[in-house]
Amino acid sequence: MTISELQQEILRLKQEKDMCILAHSYVAREITEIADFVGDSYALSVRAKDVPNANVLLCGVRFMAETVKILSPEKHVYLSNPIAGCPMAEQMDKEMIMQVKATLPGYTVMAYVNTTAALKTIADVCVTSSSAVKIARALDNDKILFIPDCNLGAYVAKQVPEKTVKLLQGGCPVHAAVRPRAVEEAKKRHPQALVLVHPECVPGVTEQADYVGSTSGIMDFAKQSDAKEFIIGTEISIAEQLQYDCPDKCFYPLDKELICPNMKSTTLVDVYRVLQGQAGEEIFLDDATIMQARRCIDKMIELGG
Ligand code: 13P
Ligand code: SF4
Repeated sequence: MTISELQQEILRLKQEKDMCILAHSYVAREITEIADFVGDSYALSVRAKDVPNANVLLCGVRFMAETVKILSPEKHVYLSNPIAGCPMAEQMDKEMIMQVKATLPGYTVMAYVNTTAALKTIADVCVTSSSAVKIARALDNDKILFIPDCNLGAYVAKQVPEKTVKLLQGGCPVHAAVRPRAVEEAKKRHPQALVLVHPECVPGVTEQADYVGSTSGIMDFAKQSDAKEFIIGTEISIAEQLQYDCPDKCFYPLDKELICPNMKSTTLVDVYRVLQGQAGEEIFLDDATIMQARRCIDKMIELGG
């Protein structure tokens, strides 16, 4: 079978099984091509609320599948490859944050969506990279404990200086590994290019960027810009997707190490096998976790919409 025959078979099976495929923009192109919806974490969360199908297959990482389950508990939600976790989401647990929270009375716990369902149960509000600044501004409290990503948190603190933002030492190992020097070197190689980066990068990188935003934010900016060359400071697949979408422009990855092994672990064959009932993992969360974790996600959608 060729890739396109496999894609056709997946499209047929997905109809037969009443399955909606949601894909994060970091996954392989042959998967985003057959997905019902492709987006950043925020768009996927919003979309998950009104999927008409009985079954949802999330191609991305575990916390994203958990978020879909929290928002659509009546549906069968599957993660396409069970090994696809997000290391940042596992860095802090509920007990640790409860202890920190006890030392910071009056603080709102703002949790990046890259957290486990269990941790979300004690968060006051959830955010994604595209909604964090807006939500921090809109929040009716000027004291925020931001977890787990200290780089996204530092970016929010800079954009919303009227609020006090406490940070802990967490973050994305892939984005945080990009050194500020990589920006200087990329700019030397491509002096005409605009630098677009994800806020999970360290402040020394975001401070040198022409634009800082979520994966969808970066893609929209590059497509709408009159500029012809862009250095892309997020997972390498975004430069690749943009190059397909805008063949008249040039996209250069900021760093060749910007590869998320978890996002890359899902293959088109995994998707096919999930539809055949031979692979993937159905996500199960208990009712109390769903109910408690949902509050911070609903608050995100209310303030971030
Ligand atoms: P977005 O919120 O931009 O989709 O990013 C998710 C993510 O995991 C980035 O590393
Ligand atoms: Fe997690 Fe980083 Fe991969 Fe995003 S890129 S899923 S934050 S490890």
